Amino acid sequence: MQYVPPLNPRLYPNLDKLLAARDRTLDWLNSSDDPDSEPNIARLSLTEAVKIIPIRFQAAVPTEPAVRAWVDAVADAARTEQVQRGAYLASVNHGPSLVLLGPTGVGKTYEAYGAVRDIAVTGVVARWTVTTAADLYAALRPRHGIDSEAEFAKYRNARLLLIDDLGAERKPTEFTEEINFRLVNHRYEHQLPTLFTSNVGAAELAQRLGDRVTSRLAEMCQRVSMKGSDKRRSNGEAA
Ligand SMILES: Nc1ncnc2c1ncn2[C@@H]1O[C@H](COP(=O)(O)OP(=O)(O)O)[C@@H](O)[C@H]1O
Ligand SMILES: [Mg+2]
Repeated sequence: MQYVPPLNPRLYPNLDKLLAARDRTLDWLNSSDDPDSEPNIARLSLTEAVKIIPIRFQAAVPTEPAVRAWVDAVADAARTEQVQRGAYLASVNHGPSLVLLGPTGVGKTYEAYGAVRDIAVTGVVARWTVTTAADLYAALRPRHGIDSEAEFAKYRNARLLLIDDLGAERKPTEFTEEINFRLVNHRYEHQLPTLFTSNVGAAELAQRLGDRVTSRLAEMCQRVSMKGSDKRRSNGEAA
């Protein structure tokens, strides 16, 4: 792994909380010069996380027990696979998936980016690809100069994938249905860990996604219904 010098905690909001929740300290994080050590992998992952996390969620620390449990499960799967394969590093390749459901503003996207940061401090190698479902469809629309199959493969094969706001379209099209099915089916068959969020209820989501997708999601994912009020309104910000 690439060596990353000690991190300045002032550049990583809530780093102390993130570490404390994993019984780790800043001293641990900044401790080792060995590029393949867990602290260095955690430093590298935190610097990578800054590049993919929107500024609004740069301070996220997951609060949902189920999200923390999923992070544990994914990190454990990486460590188990390392032992089984005799691999040099523990890397996330396979594992369980998670779907966060709940109305707008309860904190689904916050928890999802919190999970990105939380996996970083576990010290396993975790390569994320993050997108919203809407951005995914836009990125894959056939158009001049784009190899949409090559583009699709990046998402389909991502080591860890965040799909935010799945099922947000009121009217699914043949195109979005095909993307959903091919993506979920591939990730289901290969047991690739995926974090989905959706702001429609379980029944409505099932209707929008159709039986084939819903049944695979049910088997591959733990489902978490987040409750509460719209945090955007209580913050005094418009949704
Ligand atoms: N646990 C939390 N602590 C602090 N702020 C939070 C928390 N959860 C959500 N927020 C804030 O509340 C707002 C709405 O959260 P968001 O994750 O965007 O909701 P959703 O994705 O469910 O619509 C955002 O500004 C987010 O930063
Ligand atoms: Mg959101």
